[in-house]
Amino acid sequence: MKVFIAICLLFVVHSYAYVVKSRDNLLQFRNECVAELQVPENLVEHYKKWEYPNDSVTQCYLKCVFNKFGLFDTTTGFNVEDIHQQLAGVHGEAEHDDALHAKIESCIDKNEQGSNACEWAYRGAICFFKNNLQLVQQSVTPQA
Ligand SMILES: *[C@@H]1O[C@H](CO)[C@@H](O)[C@H](O)[C@H]1NC(C)=O
Repeated sequence: MKVFIAICLLFVVHSYAYVVKSRDNLLQFRNECVAELQVPENLVEHYKKWEYPNDSVTQCYLKCVFNKFGLFDTTTGFNVEDIHQQLAGVHGEAEHDDALHAKIESCIDKNEQGSNACEWAYRGAICFFKNNLQLVQQSVTPQA
């Protein structure tokens, strides 16, 4: 019985673990968010160059993409562990490096100022891209 419960718990823990997303997932999420939010083509061109102007469409677009990744929740905000996993996962390193963790955490807030979810996601994402842009790009680019 104990073994059975242990196996069930293991299964539950595993099914909730973050699944690292691929470049294909990213492209799909982008397309879905562009369609859902009816993002104009000129803004999409900026996004392809990793340029994210501070406007409400872009804010909600970034919220949408991070939300589809499973990295941002409109009530709890960003998930540090899962973002870390997304970045580390592609390199096959399960080991969590503290410097990276701290870097991610420094960009994340609990929205004490009570902004709407789009602004909240945008604030974190922009800080995150500034600090970790290369890692983010690597994590969604197929390794040659
Ligand atoms: C976006 O613009 C608003 C309004 O000007 C400003 O309060 C906010 O700090 C800006 N966000 C970022 C991340 O620059």
